[in-house]
Amino acid sequence: MKKTIILCAISIGSIATAKAQSQAVSLKLDTSTFQSQELTIEGKTIKVRAFENRIYVSNPVDTAYQKMNIYIPEAYFNNQTVNGYTAQTAPIFFPNKVGGYMPAKPATTKDNPMGMRPPMNGEMPTMGNRPPEGLPPMRERMPSKPLTVVAALARGYVVASPGVRGRTLKDQNGNFTGKAPAGIVDLKAAVRYLKFNDAVMPGDANKIISNGTSAGGAMSTLLGATGEALDYEPYLNAIGAAKASDAIFAVSAYCPITNLEQADMTYEWQFNGINTYKKGGPFAKNNAQPQELTADQIKVSNELKELFLDYLNSLQLKDKKGNLLSLDKNGNGTFKTLVQSYVMASAQKALDSGVDLSEFPFVKVAQSKVVGLDYEAYLIFIGRQKTPPAFDALDLSSPETQLFGTTTIDNQHFTPFSKTHSTVTATTADDQLVKMMNPMHYIGVSGVATSKHWRIRHGSNDKDTGLGISVMLATLLENNNLQVDLALPWQKPHSGDYDLEELFQWIDGICK
Ligand code: DHB
Repeated sequence: MKKTIILCAISIGSIATAKAQSQAVSLKLDTSTFQSQELTIEGKTIKVRAFENRIYVSNPVDTAYQKMNIYIPEAYFNNQTVNGYTAQTAPIFFPNKVGGYMPAKPATTKDNPMGMRPPMNGEMPTMGNRPPEGLPPMRERMPSKPLTVVAALARGYVVASPGVRGRTLKDQNGNFTGKAPAGIVDLKAAVRYLKFNDAVMPGDANKIISNGTSAGGAMSTLLGATGEALDYEPYLNAIGAAKASDAIFAVSAYCPITNLEQADMTYEWQFNGINTYKKGGPFAKNNAQPQELTADQIKVSNELKELFLDYLNSLQLKDKKGNLLSLDKNGNGTFKTLVQSYVMASAQKALDSGVDLSEFPFVKVAQSKVVGLDYEAYLIFIGRQKTPPAFDALDLSSPETQLFGTTTIDNQHFTPFSKTHSTVTATTADDQLVKMMNPMHYIGVSGVATSKHWRIRHGSNDKDTGLGISVMLATLLENNNLQVDLALPWQKPHSGDYDLEELFQWIDGICK
């Protein structure tokens, strides 16, 4: 009997898969099927309904990724409130697990904290209890931190986490299916699904707050910047996205690897002159040997730094008082002072919370105030991690060149500089697609519904991309009268979700 049931379940499963491929998937959320879960956080037990693996487009390309997990506190089905929210008012927290622009599965309530985001190569290391050579035991690197999804549910948020396609994904014919703009198109489709189903599920689809780290942070900013932008419409139609708005209420982004077209220049404006580098990343060996840039790489660094000055000046950004932010021919000026002021504000916050800054001699403190920063010494302290060009690698070896491939070409250049200086035979990405991956092109553009609220965190020790990337993004948003909270948390490396209490306070502040 048991066997028969199992066989039956398998055959229903395969029919469902076959159906997904041959006929349109319903976009209506089936609220009658769910799993009840009891979750524990900090000694407290909460009950939720789990609606997992819901395909969010009617014409999916890849059902392993174009699906969403939705978790809803049970209280909202019983007319109860959580943290002052009701079924009608609860915000919808929308975390993605994208790392390295790889395909990402939806988050679950069971992920371990290490599993929140796959590292750059998309694979979790199979190390058992043994850490990779050179790293301390896992528990020391990842002190037990609460799962973002569970913590958000305990706070009364509905959690909807989308899976998204990424740069290595292929269909059964071997064609790539996750190159740009697939990831952002999927996120938009998932948002539309939530809006389409707003009436049948608890949570307020006008209060969607996106969250992501690194490439996932970049995707979060892109989602917030491009609400309802028509450029994406043909792609959304092709996968059968729900007919609804894809504008979101708020963006939370940690160390966004964004503005890819200008990221090489920004990196060299920051690290030019620092000719030693140490490769990094979540699983790099701590004892990786420092290496020296070659003469050719130093030349590339000098050229890219020059290009950044023109780019920054062309943005015509203004500071909070309305003064123009600019850089002179040496790369100095008010924009640099602004970046430094964010580092100093971070040091001040650390000092106020009791951190002993005497071990950071590049910070000058007088009477409990951070009064100066030796910026060059600070940059040497954090150190260069990438070789120039950091993102559009001349030999197409970087993840970003793989993001900009096509259905049949794995890697392409995406900047004029790297196209001209390429060291391999290479093609170049379509300009329109490069544009569609960059939030900077959409902020303040008429007809686009950009999020009103932004929280950006970029650790002061992060060297995966230049600090200027987040500062330019935040400033452009501010200049367009959007609400921005940018900080560079002291000593934080390339990472995210490390300050959930503060993040949730911010969310409550904009939602209540
Ligand atoms: C990520 C990190 C990088 O350095 C990069 O270039 C792209 C993505 C990441 O951690 O997601």
